[in-house]
Amino acid sequence: MERHVVLVGLPGSGKSTVAPLVADALGLPFVDVDGVIVRRMGMPVERIFGEFGEARFRELEREAMADLLAGPASVLAPGGGWAAQPGNLEAGKARGLIVYLMVPAATALARALEGTERPLLAGGEGLARMTALLLERESSYRKADVTVDNSGDDPASAATEIVRWIRRRGAG
Ligand code: S3P
Repeated sequence: MERHVVLVGLPGSGKSTVAPLVADALGLPFVDVDGVIVRRMGMPVERIFGEFGEARFRELEREAMADLLAGPASVLAPGGGWAAQPGNLEAGKARGLIVYLMVPAATALARALEGTERPLLAGGEGLARMTALLLERESSYRKADVTVDNSGDDPASAATEIVRWIRRRGAG
């Protein structure tokens, strides 16, 4: 069976930075799942949220992940909300190893604000919002096969830890 590696965690947890490093080390393709949705819809994530709403985005996200999980082995980085939607984590586990990239809410926020537009954090009160997201989602993230601390500024060492763990599991 094709085994994927799926990185989950808050926006700003480092999924899109760590996943390509893991993919390189394992010789697998890396897929940024938001990127797939954006290409399919021909518009950025914030516009999908604005025009069609979050519920529609979650459907698009579930479909994109289902398609990718059915394809050849890869390292997948879905957006931070994917893992917390009912049924998604189970679908991922059936086809891959799930890695939770753990960071405190404040670290996630500082990193997320440096990056691209994030509709769920728009409107200020970012730390309260990120803390609420973590509270809402942590029990889902914790169902991952392994948890890796990515709170330091060293994505390469988080990637190395993930690759070692995968090799110990005999899956890479
Ligand atoms: C979301 C995270 C985003 C993106 C969308 C919703 C979330 O991806 O999918 O804005 O619900 O946490 P990142 O985790 O890559 O920021």
